[in-house]
This record gives sequence, structure tokens and C-alpha cells, in this order.
Amino acid sequence: MKLLISLSIHVLAHLKDAAFIKSVILPEKLKAFMRIDIITIFPEMFEGPFNHSMIKRAQSKGLVEIHLHNLRDYSENKHRKVDDYPFGGGAGMVMMLQPIASCIDKLKAERKYDEIIFMTPDGELFDQPIANKLSMAGNIIIMCGHYKGIDERLREHYFTMEISIGNYVLTGGELAAAIVTDAVVRLLPGVLSDETSALSDSFQDNLLSPPVYTRPADFNGWLVPDVLMSGNEKEIKKWQFERAVERTRLRRPGMLE
Ligand code: 6GU
Repeated sequence: MKLLISLSIHVLAHLKDAAFIKSVILPEKLKAFMRIDIITIFPEMFEGPFNHSMIKRAQSKGLVEIHLHNLRDYSENKHRKVDDYPFGGGAGMVMMLQPIASCIDKLKAERKYDEIIFMTPDGELFDQPIANKLSMAGNIIIMCGHYKGIDERLREHYFTMEISIGNYVLTGGELAAAIVTDAVVRLLPGVLSDETSALSDSFQDNLLSPPVYTRPADFNGWLVPDVLMSGNEKEIKKWQFERAVERTRLRRPGMLE
């Protein structure tokens, strides 16, 4: 038995593929692992956001797998067409049913999904509670919208959520999907260190964060507030809370209601 344990530790230590460790060795309940499938006509747009900093580290630590699917690969059209003219006329093209349905059907045949999300400017406004909820999911699909929109029948029959990141129009859903992915992945256990803990984020306690300072204490006569230099932890906490409330009242009065 002892040999077996030390052998598995040895094997574990040499396994680079953390996702494999989780799926084979860790019991089902201990899995905090998340899989995100993104459907897009511009997979290259995600190279920047997903290959740096926390999101890159989260992937190499095996805490999340992000899979990009080029929608054109699922088109049955010989020119890999994914859009067509709108019935009834009007400006702009509409994303066709077939490629999106084929891609989602294929993914759904492979595993169960907790949410199938359509990124669209007329979706539900994305906020911290939605990010928190999504971070509890195991598998999600995010579909990036384009052109004038997608065939309405997809919205009726395929998607479980529709998300917008704000009241302005982007050229497509890719940047919005990257933002949602970033906000969700950083909440997964093990992604942030203690000092950057998500619990102290602005929005998590319905307050914006208080101002912060670092050295030097005097920059060309601009001084750091005395209380932060006092060493009096109780006074510092009180000051930080008051500044957080003040900032919230000035900048997001709606959060205090
Ligand atoms: Cl999800 N897509 C597009 N195209 N524009 C947006 C958006 C999404 N959210 C805000 N603006």
C-alpha cells in the first residue's frame, strides 16, 4: 500500500497534464474543473486575452479548458458560408441556423452543458452575480454573434442564456465573450492567490473598493493619507470602509439601494 501511494505521488509529480490527473485520479467531487467551448468566426481574436496572465495560468494549472471552434468548419456549404440574406429584406446578413446548430449538437453529444450562452447586445446585462453563477458551472458554451444577428429559431431552441456586456454595440461577440470568460475563470478556486482574493473585489460586497497607495509616501508633495501610515489596524479598516461607501455613493448610487 505504502509503495502504491509513493508510486502514485511519483507518477503525479511527473504528470504534466493536470486535466488528466483530475479526470482519472481525483474523485468526482473534488473536481473544480471547468470547460468553456467558444463558437466564433474569428478564433484568432482570443489568442491575446487567453494566452497571458491569470487565464493562461489557469489553463496550464488544469483548472479550466478553453476550446475554440471555428464556425466555418461546421458549415455544410462548399464556400464555408455561415450567413445569408434576411427573409423579408432589410440591411445586413443573418447568421444561418445550420452551422451553429451542427456545432452545438456535436458538443452536446459529447457532454452535458450547464449553460449555452449567446453573446448579443440585446442580452441580459453582464454583472458580478452572473459571473459568480457561471463560475459554478462545469461545462458552458459561448456563441459569439455577428452581422445583424442570428436566425431567431436558434434563440428559441438552443440557448439557455443571452448576455450583453453593456449598452453599446461592438463589431461582434468575441471581445464580449473574452470578457465574460475572464470574469468567470478568475473566480475558479486556485486561479487567484490569497492576496488577490476575489472576495475583496469591488462589487462582491456591493461596494466599490477604497483607494490604495504604495511607496513613496511622498511623491513631489502628494502625500499618502496619515491613517494608512499609522499602523492602527482598526482605524485603517474604518477609513477603508468609509472611503468605499463614499466612492460607491458618488459613482454607483444604485448599488447602495
Ligand atoms: Cl455580446 N455583442 C456585440 N456585438 N455588441 C455588444 C455586446 C455583445 N455586448 C455589448 N455590446
